[in-house]
Amino acid sequence: MSDQSKESAKSSAPRKVAPPAAMVIFGANGDLTKRLVVPALYNLCRAGKLADNFVLVGVDRNDSDAKAWTQGLKEFLATTLQNAPAGNNQVDEQVWARLTANATFVVGDITKADTYKHLGDVLSELDKQHQLGGNTLFYLAVGDRFFGPIIDELAAAGLTKEEGEHWRRVIVEKPFGHDLDSAKALNERILKVLHETQVFRMDHFLGKETVQNIMAFRFANGMFEHMWNRDRIDHVQVTAAETVGVEKRGSFYEVTGALRDMVPNHVFQLIAMVAMEPPVSFAADDVRNKKADVFSAMHPVKAENVCRGQYGAGRIGDAEVPGYREEPNVAPDSDTETYVAMKLEIDNWRWAGVPFYVRTGKRLSKRWTEIALRFKAAPYALFKDAPVEELGANWLIIQIQPDEGIRLHFSAKQPGTRMELDSVSMDFKYADWFQQAPANGYETLIFDCLIGDATLFQRADQVEGAWRVVQPALDLWSSRKSIGFPDYAAGSDGPSCSDALLQRDGRAWRKIG
Ligand code: BG6
Repeated sequence: MSDQSKESAKSSAPRKVAPPAAMVIFGANGDLTKRLVVPALYNLCRAGKLADNFVLVGVDRNDSDAKAWTQGLKEFLATTLQNAPAGNNQVDEQVWARLTANATFVVGDITKADTYKHLGDVLSELDKQHQLGGNTLFYLAVGDRFFGPIIDELAAAGLTKEEGEHWRRVIVEKPFGHDLDSAKALNERILKVLHETQVFRMDHFLGKETVQNIMAFRFANGMFEHMWNRDRIDHVQVTAAETVGVEKRGSFYEVTGALRDMVPNHVFQLIAMVAMEPPVSFAADDVRNKKADVFSAMHPVKAENVCRGQYGAGRIGDAEVPGYREEPNVAPDSDTETYVAMKLEIDNWRWAGVPFYVRTGKRLSKRWTEIALRFKAAPYALFKDAPVEELGANWLIIQIQPDEGIRLHFSAKQPGTRMELDSVSMDFKYADWFQQAPANGYETLIFDCLIGDATLFQRADQVEGAWRVVQPALDLWSSRKSIGFPDYAAGSDGPSCSDALLQRDGRAWRKIG
């Protein structure tokens, strides 16, 4: 069976329960493991999606054992559940016992070959005891400098070898490279020892219900697709605004910045969902081919189409917050951007001439992620005698978070004898309709990896395609120091260069929130 037909077969037969497997987490004591990975596993276990013989294996250098490790994870989980709705605000003991029944902890230095030899012995033993069929998922919840070395060591120890029906898969977290060259080098290194089908490059935005729903919205409805193009759409705005600052991640953020942290990954995935052509099927490679086409059709961003900013002190809600340069582990004269805006162009039949404006930043006025499509205006002539200055704009807004949903803004006649128009909206809200909050993405993605469905993971060519588009901005900024940082106050809507980017084209950003 070819890899592709194997994949299609997996995707076309949805599974309710993942197959038996060991999941090895590198960085077992790290923040990502306790904040996102383990809570997602707990939810999967509670929903009955993990096999009874699922085995959790932690690897980290700190001296610990399975009991202490899982106890620490449980305590952390309990604190995160405190604010959940009644009934779900405590750790369910039975679920937790099931999830951690066979948990094992391997103490070891992830840069040393011995650790992998020992891990191999532990996995063989667990496999025998729990009939795991040899299936193993390695989750790299570690700093990106360890991705290459860990994968090399796993391969050298023979732990990534797939035989017969059993599988060996690796989830690689972001950031995947820090520019085009490093992303290419990392792909090359990984693909020397792993097959592409074994690599699951994580972008948690792809696991968000609202992001996945874009495909359903576009391709399961006959209503929208015929106007989803340059004939009807004037421009698209993608906003990923956050109120949080850099939290405790100053050292990471100093060398990363808003562009690398959010744009070639999360924001580009949103663009791909909106801009892609309909796939032939929902099999992983059919979907990923269409997304890769979007990135191939994008021009590398032009210097005049990018804007960066950095927050100074300000106010978020009732709280005074410090500027970026005052955050822990941040240089007092830091040149790192905490805000970025860009105008991107997609040169294909569907989108030529339709600008995609994107912006993302920390410490903005509201936590708000949306994709807004602005439709071309109706001919004004018909209403020239009516007392309206301008017809309200037609927008279709895909609200990713919070208040997940879809909204359509259009004009309607106000009640009365005169033809007076008002801008009104039709709203679909996830919470109202499905009475359930959408998941944060990790559950879906971990489950998909366990069942071998790579649709929602990034392929090597996509990652490189996105870096290629943003590389000119990185080059420009590394050669030219920013002027006037900080240039927006915490709690505002961002720097003025961002507004100028749209004003130049006779357009304006939508209000955040
Ligand atoms: C992460 C970034 O990938 O995504 C963070 O590193 C950012 O800086 C986060 O805050 C945003 O994700 P979400 O799901 O909270 O919108």
